[in-house]
Formats: sequence, C-alpha cells, structure tokens
Amino acid sequence: MKQIKVCLIGYGYWGSKLARNFQNSNFFNLTSIIDISKKNLEKAKRDFPLAKIGNDYKEFIKKQNISLVVISTPTKTHFQIAKYTLEKKINILVEKPLSLSIREVKVLENLSKKNKVLLFVDYPFLFSGSIKYIKKLIDNKKFGNLIEIESFREQAPVRKDCNVVWDLTVHDISILNFLLNKMPSSYESRKFKTLGSSQADTAYLNLSYKKKINVFLKNTWISPKKVRLIKFKFKNAIVYCDENEPIYKIKIFKGNKKNNLNYNLEIPEIDLSEPLSQLVNYIYKSIQLKKNIIFDKKLNLNITKILSKLS
Ligand SMILES: NC(=O)c1ccc[n+]([C@@H]2O[C@H](COP(=O)([O-])OP(=O)(O)OC[C@H]3O[C@@H](n4cnc5c(N)ncnc54)[C@H](O)[C@@H]3O)[C@@H](O)[C@H]2O)c1
Repeated sequence: MKQIKVCLIGYGYWGSKLARNFQNSNFFNLTSIIDISKKNLEKAKRDFPLAKIGNDYKEFIKKQNISLVVISTPTKTHFQIAKYTLEKKINILVEKPLSLSIREVKVLENLSKKNKVLLFVDYPFLFSGSIKYIKKLIDNKKFGNLIEIESFREQAPVRKDCNVVWDLTVHDISILNFLLNKMPSSYESRKFKTLGSSQADTAYLNLSYKKKINVFLKNTWISPKKVRLIKFKFKNAIVYCDENEPIYKIKIFKGNKKNNLNYNLEIPEIDLSEPLSQLVNYIYKSIQLKKNIIFDKKLNLNITKILSKLS
C-alpha cells in the first residue's frame, strides 16, 4: 500500500499527539516536522528520528512530495499557513479553531474548493465513541425527547491569542452541531477575566435550539481539576458523558417516576478508541474518495459564526 506523506507544522503540546497518531497509522508516513522552536525540534528528532526536521515550512512544502500538511501552531498563525498550503494544492488538517474570522474561513473554504484539495479541522469529539453513542440516543429517542444539555469544561493552558470561548467552547459547539444538526435560535454569553489576563479565561453561555432544547456551557481555563463532563437530560433519563473517565465514559441514570431522587444506573459498552486515530482514518478515506462528507456541510463556517456571536 502506498502511504500518504505527511508534514506536521508545530510540534508543541498537541502537535506531538497528532504526530503519534499519524505515525501509528498504516496509511500515513510522517516524513517531516517543522517548528520555529529549537527545543521542540530537538524533541521531534528524538521522538521521530526518521522524519526530516526544519524551521521553514515554505521551504519544506516546496521540496517534498507532501500530500497532507497538518497545522498545529498557535491559532493566530493558522490562516497564513493554511492559505499558503492550499495555494500549493495540498490537503490540510488544521487545529481548532480554524480561524477567529468568518471572512478568513470563507477564503480557506473557497480556496480548497477551487484547488480541489480537502480541508479538515481537528474537532476530536466528532470522532469519540461516547459522542457517537449519545447521537444514537437522541436520534432513536430511546429515553424520550432531549430537553437540556449542560457542559462543564474546566482546566486548560491559558492562551494569549484567543479567549476561552474560541479555545474550549469550540469543542461544545462542534459537538452540538453534530448532535442537533441545526443552528441555535438564541445566544447569551457572559465572559470574565478572573485572573486579570488579557483574554477572558471563564465563560458562562446559554444557547437555545428550536424544539425547546436549552444548552448551558461553563468553560474555564482556571481550575485545579480537569473536568470534561456533559449532562444530557432526556424525558426519561439523565445521561452523563465524562471524557475524563478512562472506561466508563457514559452513565445512564434512569428516572423513577414515583421518586425523583431515586435513579437506576446503567453503564453501556462504547467504542473506546482514541478519537484522533479515528480522525486519521477518516482523513485517509476522504483523500482516497476525494470527498469530505463531515466538513462539506458548512461545518467550519457554522461553528465560526456561532463562536463569533458568543465571543
Ligand atoms: N483539538 C484539541 O483538542 C486541541 C488541544 C490542544 C490544543 N489544540 C490546538 O492546537 C494548536 C496548538 O496548540 P498547542 O497547545 O500545541 O500550542 P504549543 O504552543 O504547545 O505548540 C505550538 C507550536 O507551534 C510552533 N510554532 C509557532 N509558530 C510557528 C510557525 N510559524 N512555524 C512552525 N512552528 C510554529 C511553536 O514553536 C510550538 O512548538 C492550537 O490551535 C490549539 O488550539 C487543539
């Protein structure tokens, strides 16, 4: 099988996870890693001794026969690097958020169409077994209609180039888009700089969807404990989805009609494979078929529009 050559730009915290997932795939060959930090390049060389390393992505993209460029640099650099790569007619995977500007997202989408190459964004939860399980519960109404969603996403590195909404709420919005398949009908947002930093580090958000689904989101970088919990309130059960749990990520609390303080707990079996490895498989299939089903339906544009309103 002919492997697809990958160049990774940005070997920081998240870039190293992407590198591992592409290297572990039979479909891809991580041939080059680019970073402007000498320290991170040295680490890349230690971790991937067969990959070429360098600090100038333009130089590498020009010379190597690359079919996929993975961009895991800070958000403010995404547009420039993504545009350059799409202009060279190379498929790209960009880290979330794609850009903080609706105009820039449109430019990139149009460029990918014009040059007939694919544009992917890393929204990892679209590929998580637990979110896929919840999607089935919503669609088959096993526990009746969905009434309310509450999401708590706490603790992450403080960023300087975007606020917590662009950094963490992007995950909730990508999940909501996938699960509900529609835009919210109303938005409320309160943001705080609790540490007096340049960007808002904490946000309390409220979205409403038609059919009376209310969504509450709390996102903060500042927390001693990592929390990634979403509660789905259905008519006949409340379902917890905890991405921090290693195995029992989904817990179904079935209501007791006679006593609202008494629930029966059920723990279903779900697909526990790493979402990034599923994303890597999806990218391979999409490149083979020259089709990008998940991202075709204005996904990036809709997510950016919602985040622009909230931020
Ligand atoms: N999908 C997720 O769940 C997830 C999780 C964490 C971070 N991220 C995203 O990944 C991106 C990177 O975040 P991070 O936490 O890894 O940051 P980081 O600071 O740890 O890493 C960024 C790396 O990019 C390098 N870099 C900066 N400009 C460059 C350039 N012009 N050319 C080459 N290299 C350059 C830096 O030297 C650094 O090594 C961000 O967009 C972030 O939002 C996504």
